[in-house]
Amino acid sequence: MVTARAHTNIALLKYWGKKDINLILPYNDSISLTLDHFYTDTSVEFDPSLKTDEILVDQQPSAGSGAKRVKRVLNLIRKLGDSTMFASVHSTNHVPSTAGLASSASAFAALASAGAKAAGLNLSERELSILARHGSGSASRSIFGGFVQWHAGHDDQSSYAQPIQRNVDWDINLITVLVDTSQKKISSTNGMQSVVETSPFYPAWVKSAQADVKPMQTAILNRNLATLGELAEQNAMRMHATTFGAVPSFTYFQPQTLAILTAVRNMRKQGVECYSTVDAGPNVKIICASSDNELIMHKLSKIVHQDQLLVCKPGPGITYL
Ligand code: DP6
Repeated sequence: MVTARAHTNIALLKYWGKKDINLILPYNDSISLTLDHFYTDTSVEFDPSLKTDEILVDQQPSAGSGAKRVKRVLNLIRKLGDSTMFASVHSTNHVPSTAGLASSASAFAALASAGAKAAGLNLSERELSILARHGSGSASRSIFGGFVQWHAGHDDQSSYAQPIQRNVDWDINLITVLVDTSQKKISSTNGMQSVVETSPFYPAWVKSAQADVKPMQTAILNRNLATLGELAEQNAMRMHATTFGAVPSFTYFQPQTLAILTAVRNMRKQGVECYSTVDAGPNVKIICASSDNELIMHKLSKIVHQDQLLVCKPGPGITYL
C-alpha cells in the first residue's frame, strides 16, 4: 500500500474550458500557486482478491461522477502497468470540498501519485501530471509545489504542468475568506462547459488569459507582488464575466463575495497591496504580503467573522507518507 499527500493549488491565471472533454485539454495555459494549508492523503493498494475497485472518500463509499473519475485514473494506471488487478483507494480530504477550494486538484494529484507507485510504476513528474489531469484538469498542477504552469498542449502528451518556481523564497500569502462552504450548485466542470458552449465572451477570455501568461511568468520570477496581483485579479474577474454571458446566465458570486471584492479595492486605494481571486465558488482568496495580514484581517472583520479567515502560504509538491 502506498500513501501520497498532495496540496491544493489556487490558479492565478485560470483554466476555464476544455477543447477536448475526454482528454481534459484546456483552451489556455494556466498558472497557479500550490498552498500549504489544504491537502488530501490518498492510499492505494492493488489487491488480487478484489472483484472491483473499492473507493472510500472521507470514510464514505464513493459513487457517481467522482468514482467514475477515480476509475478512469486507475484504468490508465492498469494499462501502463499491464495489470488487471482491482484497487482499494482510501482518500482523506483536509479541504472544505466542493466550495471552490479545489479539493479535486489535491485529490487527483494524490491518487495519481499513490496509484502509480502502488502499481510499481516509476513515472516522472511530467507523467504524473498527465495522469492526474485525467482525473481533474487542475490536479495536473498539484504534482508540484510553489508556482506552476500547466501548458495547454495539443494532445495527451503535450498537456502537462511544470514548475515556474518550486521553492517560493519571497513573501506572498493568500488569505482565504470562507464565504460559504456548502456544496455549490454548478460544478466547475459544468460551469466551464456551459460557458464554452453559450457565452459570447468566451473567445475574448481565452485570448486575454493566454496573453497574460508571459507577463505573469515575469512577475513571478521578478517577485513582483503588485503586477502578479493585478494580473490575477483581472484574470479572475474576466473568468466570472464569462458566466454572466452564458445562457442561462449564472454566477458563483454571493453578496458577501462582492462585499469582500469591494473591501479589497478600497484597501488598495488606501495603499495596502492586496488583490482578489475567486474560483468556481463564492470564496475569495486575497493575495498579499504577510506583513499586511493583520491589517487586512482587521478590516475584513467588519464584513466576516474571524473564523471565516484562513492564512495560507506557498506549499510543497507531492510527498509519500
Ligand atoms: C475555476 O479542475 O475542477 O478552479 O477538469 O472539470 O475537473 P475539471 O475542472 P477543475 O476546474 C478548476 C477551475 C478553476 C480554475 C483553475 O483551477 O484553474
